[in-house]
Amino acid sequence: MRIIIIGAGGHARDTAWLARDIASRGGTRFEVVGFVVSDSSRLGPHDSPVLGDEGVLADRDRYDGLVLGIGTPSVRKKVAERLMAAHPDVPWPALVHPTASMDWDSCTVGPGAMVAAGVIGTVNVRVGAYAVLNPAVTLGHEAVVGPYSVMNHAAGISGGTVLEEAVLVGTGARVLQYRTVGAGARVGAGAVVTKDVPPGETWVGIPARRMD
Ligand SMILES: CC(C)(COP(=O)(O)OP(=O)(O)OC[C@H]1O[C@@H](n2cnc3c(N)ncnc32)[C@H](O)[C@@H]1OP(=O)(O)O)[C@@H](O)C(=O)NCCC(=O)NCCS
Repeated sequence: MRIIIIGAGGHARDTAWLARDIASRGGTRFEVVGFVVSDSSRLGPHDSPVLGDEGVLADRDRYDGLVLGIGTPSVRKKVAERLMAAHPDVPWPALVHPTASMDWDSCTVGPGAMVAAGVIGTVNVRVGAYAVLNPAVTLGHEAVVGPYSVMNHAAGISGGTVLEEAVLVGTGARVLQYRTVGAGARVGAGAVVTKDVPPGETWVGIPARRMD
């Protein structure tokens, strides 16, 4: 499946590697055609070409699907919604690394989502559309990761925790069981969330408190 990655920063490079590693380990045969950018100032080293801006996507002969390579939840949502409206029939495959381990009979992963190497979930986990689980994320039973939400490296949410839409959980942070993190909220790297986080707020520290 020929894919174009939207974005060309660090998360886009992570995403390209994920797609290639899935293919090289015998999974879906993704082929990264290249990257499409809106901001060329954030370009870094690539071994696939930067194809140009979103105008490139009009040529449907060049690709079979699109993948978001953007690591900020609110930007993922904005860009995905714009591109889905502009190109409603284009597929957004989920990228799930073969080393990700969950009870696949009871867990679900939505379209456009990314589940990286070493993610461990258990049972009845729901990963929403366009959500991102970066390497070594852990999820307890019945955890819910809302659409466009992003969990960074080694973050963990416990059983029954709900991340609503477009939530950021920073590297190494923990959210305790049955807590809810409201839409658009951010949990800082290394935080331990012991209470519900209201929508749109940023919480940091142990125990986590609202950042003023
Ligand atoms: C919490 C976070 C979202 C805030 O971002 P921000 O709004 O840009 O905040 P700033 O960097 O301006 O920092 C504001 C203050 O909060 C403090 N702060 C920032 N992140 C913190 C954290 N995770 N824990 C404790 N304090 C933190 C800063 O030291 C600063 O304090 P000061 O005003 O006393 O100097 C961000 O720092 C964070 O932790 N993001 C996740 C990072 C991550 O996962 N990176 C991995 C990428 S793969």
